[in-house]
Amino acid sequence: MTPTAHPMLQDPKAAISIDGLRATVEVCLQDRTYPIWIGEGLLDQAQVWSTALKPGRQVVVVSNEVVMPLYGERLVGCLSELGHSVSQVVLADGEAHKDFSGLMQIFDHLMQARIDRSATLIALGGGVIGDMGGFAAACYQRGIDFVQVPTTLLSQVDSSVGGKTAINHPLGKNMIGAFYQPKAVVIDMTVLKTLPSRELSAGLAEVIKYGAILDAQFFDWLEQNMPALVAREPAALAYAIERSCQIKAQVVAADERESSGQRALLNFGHTFGHAIEAGLGFGVWLHGEAVGCGMAMAGLLSHKLGQLDAAALARLVRLIGQAGLPLQPPDWPASTYLEWMAHDKKASGGHIRYILLRGLGRSEFRPVEDQAVCQAIEAAQHGLALT
Ligand code: NAD
Ligand code: GLY
Repeated sequence: MTPTAHPMLQDPKAAISIDGLRATVEVCLQDRTYPIWIGEGLLDQAQVWSTALKPGRQVVVVSNEVVMPLYGERLVGCLSELGHSVSQVVLADGEAHKDFSGLMQIFDHLMQARIDRSATLIALGGGVIGDMGGFAAACYQRGIDFVQVPTTLLSQVDSSVGGKTAINHPLGKNMIGAFYQPKAVVIDMTVLKTLPSRELSAGLAEVIKYGAILDAQFFDWLEQNMPALVAREPAALAYAIERSCQIKAQVVAADERESSGQRALLNFGHTFGHAIEAGLGFGVWLHGEAVGCGMAMAGLLSHKLGQLDAAALARLVRLIGQAGLPLQPPDWPASTYLEWMAHDKKASGGHIRYILLRGLGRSEFRPVEDQAVCQAIEAAQHGLALT
């Protein structure tokens, strides 16, 4: 098939004319190519929505009880003024609700409001809303358009980009889902002003991930700029979001369905992290907190396997700590981690595969003997912070 740009990108000047736009990153997937717009005040920018949506559409905004009162009115007001017929679904907040019953609430609304195939679903919220809204859009009438409006740092740098959509099953995270790309991602950095500090730190875990696995220069930049990021300085945040989206877009364009192993690298820290999340019960630790601690554990495993020197491991652990993330893994027997990790999607044929570092900025995906993993878990429990 001849590669063609998504219709909304056919006039590149359209994106450039958006007020408050700082950067545009493209996710290049032939006829499903889409833009990520990053800027300030984009949420209720008429130019954004007149570029992203065809006129006179049914639009369904899916959000939650925290984000909708903060930003819903501005978005819905802008869409209504542009002549769209807008309805909303407001879900309960939190990872614990990223489940089948939350998904059914979206479907109930879509059916009751007689939403048709030409409608667009807009997911306004963090990764939970983005993953659920995207999965609902993938399934409803076998697929309707959707746009991501991520409102947490984590969702802006990671979950809104790349088309992974899912809900959790009690036995495993994100186990029921689909690859389904949005038509656009609208990142309004100003919404981060209301984000709790713990959530900001959780997002920084995914930002650190990109530097650790693929971009040593970005890792250096993060070491120099972590205080500015924690202080939410707009210029620092803008660069961190743009660079993270660029890296994610490149990986997704190269391996959309995680078939060659490249995209699996984005799960650095997630094998241990998912075990922590599932083992404690979803929502006890934030996803990004579990990933942060999981990255330190995966770094320690890489060190024990002789492929990450002590100085590099110390830099990784220090940066994770500076981002305000926890470094003390739950005190379970190592075998409990292995049991939870066996449910992970990266486990294949009974073998758990790990993302390991080969120095900062280089990574690989492979199985490791259980014994080495258990030793690394126990060492991490004795004190990652002291590394
Ligand atoms: P989240 O969606 O639960 O949001 C975190 C909290 O912040 C919630 O209470 C939310 O209501 C609140 N919130 C959101 N925006 C806010 C704002 N601007 N101001 C104040 N409060 C705000 O969590 P998250 O960290 O954004 O996402 C985590 C989810 O993302 C997990 O389910 C994870 O599996 C998923 N994820 C998916 C991918 C992917 O590729 N699809 C990647 C990473 C993570
Ligand atoms: N967050 C991992 C991925 O999108 O592949």
